Amino acid sequence: MTGPVTLSYEGPIAIMTIDNPPVNALSYAVIDGIKAAFDTFEASECEALVIACAGRTFVAGADINTFDDADFSAAPFNALIGRIEASPRPVAAALFGTVLGGGLELAMACHIRVAHPATRLGLPEVHLGLIPGSLGTQRLPRLAGLAKAFEMISTGTPISAEHAVGAGIVDHIADDPKGAAIHAVADYAHSHQPPRRASELTIPDIDQAPEIIAQAKAAAEAKPFLPTLGAIAAALEAATRSFAEGERVEAAEFEKLRATTTSRALRHIFFAEREAQRVPGLPKDIQARPIKSVGIVGVGTMGGGIAMTFANAGIPVTLVETSQEALDRGIGIIEKNYAGTVSRGRLTEEAAKERRALMTGATGMEALAEADLIIEAVFEDMSLKLDVARKLGEVAKPGAIIATNTSTLDVDKIAEATGRPADALGTHFFSPAHIMKLLEVVRGAQTAPDVLYTVMKLSKTIGKTAVVSGVCYGFIGNRMTEMYLRESEAMILEGATPQQIDKVVESPRWLGLAMGPNRMGDMAGVDVMARIVNEWVESGEGPQAPSYRALVRALFHLGKFGQKTGEGLYLYEGRKPIPNPATEALAKELAAMHNIAPREHSEQEIFERLIYPMVNEAALILMEGIAYRPGDIDVVWTSGYGWPTWRGGPLFMADEIGVGEIVARMDHYAATLGNEHGYWTVAPLLRELAASGQRISDWRPAS
Ligand code: NAI
Repeated sequence: MTGPVTLSYEGPIAIMTIDNPPVNALSYAVIDGIKAAFDTFEASECEALVIACAGRTFVAGADINTFDDADFSAAPFNALIGRIEASPRPVAAALFGTVLGGGLELAMACHIRVAHPATRLGLPEVHLGLIPGSLGTQRLPRLAGLAKAFEMISTGTPISAEHAVGAGIVDHIADDPKGAAIHAVADYAHSHQPPRRASELTIPDIDQAPEIIAQAKAAAEAKPFLPTLGAIAAALEAATRSFAEGERVEAAEFEKLRATTTSRALRHIFFAEREAQRVPGLPKDIQARPIKSVGIVGVGTMGGGIAMTFANAGIPVTLVETSQEALDRGIGIIEKNYAGTVSRGRLTEEAAKERRALMTGATGMEALAEADLIIEAVFEDMSLKLDVARKLGEVAKPGAIIATNTSTLDVDKIAEATGRPADALGTHFFSPAHIMKLLEVVRGAQTAPDVLYTVMKLSKTIGKTAVVSGVCYGFIGNRMTEMYLRESEAMILEGATPQQIDKVVESPRWLGLAMGPNRMGDMAGVDVMARIVNEWVESGEGPQAPSYRALVRALFHLGKFGQKTGEGLYLYEGRKPIPNPATEALAKELAAMHNIAPREHSEQEIFERLIYPMVNEAALILMEGIAYRPGDIDVVWTSGYGWPTWRGGPLFMADEIGVGEIVARMDHYAATLGNEHGYWTVAPLLRELAASGQRISDWRPAS
């Protein structure tokens, strides 16, 4: 037998081995292979069967690509595992690694499950907007109870092998699960007991079914925009009636979910995150530079968080500040952060100590002479950054990578100042850097391919979702945010309130961002925003209209910096934002000064004016080659700005709305609001796509 599934024999026991690297996903070929191997087993005289896997894990799930096939059906696989379960001869699964989704469903159709102690087991389909489609919603409650099944299916969080034994999902733990499974099936075969079939078991907590189902339904009603939750409730409720009924309901719900925008959006982000890691055009034999130690210059908000990110991944960090006092302050904040994590029970005291021990402080750049990667996170001031870059160019060892964490400055100029621009690039972390997933990796005009490759690879080690951006003002994320903030402030000058705007963006009916632009601005700091805008405008590159973001610039002037001063766009009672009459009065004053007429804003207008210019800017970002592909832009938003993954990012959403509709509305606003500053000029790419009816998500650069 060839192909990804083979059958071998150990005495009277048949052993089916699935070998489909990297994670033994259930591709069509694997399913065909399991079927052929099982046919052979059935036709044989073997006493029992063990299903095992080669490589680093048992089956870690379905092949998610197949969910997009128009004629996808789980029915053939479900029938196959039904046959396995119905076998009169015992079948065991030997589990290790990550037993997820279809892998766990296959295992639950076996009669015995033996797991390595480090195994993780779960049904993560909810993260793709789906429910388990191969009887996971039916066999799991019969093995572990409805409450456990609801918890595992609705959170998608995997559990440990030990936990799985306690829950009744795994029968034995063994360091050699395959060997132990062979013993277990042999004993079973000799006991002449009928195999234990999950589908025939009584749900252990059936007495509590009404309460558990009510809880599942309540969870679904609380989030009507997530259809998965309703489907989970329906499938579990059907499980209480009969296995056959449950099978029918699961299949119908799965099929409905597969076509929903939510599931398509989540699958889109799943693939986009993976594709974003790939840098096009790299030589095949490219080698990453080894990164065994990191240096950080500037231990402020960002430098401290970046240091923690590396220490958390076990990489030693040298921290450089201007004075011992500044260094002590920066390290003090890091220690406080770790202490907080320990007190919340998320880290052991010992682990925190180990991480802290990976950090060394210094007050001179010479301490960075041996670092493999140096990240500069000093104040956002070009002359300071150039000065630091020059010094780093002098002290860094040959081959060291020099990165800047600037959020707005020209990475090429900073790279040039190092004297070795091929070794330099931008690493734009998001605040708090040790928590936020996104890392924009800014490739300079001269960044060497292996430098880019090294940092992309390293991002995985430190648990970040990396996206490559070219050099431009604000890179991908903040460049688009600028449009969003511009329109938010413009509408406030026209008489909308900050809370009215935030409410639209935060409402799942429109978008469902965790925080609207005004709450976000107050949190990030009016001062931070205003300084950036002022510098951009003063440099001559930013918009020159006197009304441009006039509100934050005026608030800044008045010392109203947002949450930190208790007043900004909102007033603060502690951390709670409440409407601020002074901001409304200030907006009226500014409107009068800039001849801005008041108007009413419908929710639709608020949504369109905030989001459509961002989509338009994204089209420019694609045309200019700043982003490699549309999915990268969506990933920036879902992993860096709290854009709900179930919305799939701004460009996925643009396609759902229709590019043609967006172009028509941009034209409408140009006509009604005026376009003297070019704010409503439609990007040529967007117009082309609207004319040809193509999706922007499918667009790829020519070449
Ligand atoms: P910060 O003001 O909190 O920290 C800057 C630190 O750099 C200070 O501790 C200062 O003492 C130190 N420093 C200044 N000159 C130095 C020198 N010559 N040598 C060593 N240390 C020096 O600033 P923050 O917020 O951490 O920003 C740092 C960089 O990160 C800036 O370029 C900023 O634009 C960027 N950034 C900031 C984000 C944020 O949300 N705060 C987000 C993403 C990027």
